[in-house]
Amino acid sequence: GKRVAKALNIPRPAVIAHRGASHLAPESTVPAYLMARELGADYLEIDLQRTKDGTLVVVHDDDLSRTTNVAEVFPGREKDTIDTFTFAELAQLDAGSWFNRTFPDRARGSFKGLRILRMDEVIALAESGTRRPGLYIETKAASRFPGIEEQLVGALRQRGWIEDSEGPPSGRVIFQSFEPNSLVRLKSLAPRVPRLLLLDELMVAREGLDSLMKIASDVGSGVGTWGVRWAFSPYWSLTAAPKRYLTTWPWHTGQAHEAGLFVHPWTINERWEMWMVTLSGADGFFTDRADVALAVVGKP
Ligand code: G3P
Ligand code: CA
Repeated sequence: GKRVAKALNIPRPAVIAHRGASHLAPESTVPAYLMARELGADYLEIDLQRTKDGTLVVVHDDDLSRTTNVAEVFPGREKDTIDTFTFAELAQLDAGSWFNRTFPDRARGSFKGLRILRMDEVIALAESGTRRPGLYIETKAASRFPGIEEQLVGALRQRGWIEDSEGPPSGRVIFQSFEPNSLVRLKSLAPRVPRLLLLDELMVAREGLDSLMKIASDVGSGVGTWGVRWAFSPYWSLTAAPKRYLTTWPWHTGQAHEAGLFVHPWTINERWEMWMVTLSGADGFFTDRADVALAVVGKP
């Protein structure tokens, strides 16, 4: 693990700000990414999707109902997927007020009316300021967005985020996906950018860990596993075969390292879990709480 991350120039342990500092501000908005950058997170995590008219945007969910006022602005389109909206339509939505309603204790007046971001806005944010976080980009539901990998790599290359020369990779960009095929496409487009295969319960139940480690090594250089609480959740024990249940976290961190893969679990928000994940030898983790995580791993 240590060697793999080091060879790829990935800081260790890596603190990956999941949708920005999304505990403190509405996920995937300017203040969330700004806070993550200023706190000193190693990476800004981005869930990539594409509008109907071809703009790369940063949204996690398939639809807009949880994190925007889509029901007010476009009645009847609450369950429509992101790819059915134009960017001009997305720009009319308020992606901040839901946070104030859901988390009144963390609400701020300035969150009202925040916009959904284009990917290039997040990149620009990572490029400015004195702290220079890297980008950890997930091709989300990649099969719904044919050609999104070409578009992503093209945009990054144009901005100088992908270097094609020899030598060790910069570690400034990492790609991630639940879809091995998307990673294969990214591999052929930008072979030197590290890639992480995200694992979920169903994949483990279906394939088994041994086979998944093999797939992960074929398509990338790391695996994204889920955290301790998830491994012990009733949902997990109901959906996964008992044998596989026993072979998951934290035992599989060692298994992944043996397979030459780095390990970044998600989404680790509790202090005790951050300690456990770190002690298990994981190479970093995704977290909504970059503030807490940086203190736990001792990064100033
Ligand atoms: O990308 C790591 C983690 O974010 C994967 O789950 O659903 O939060 O994108 P999700
Ligand atoms: Ca993600």
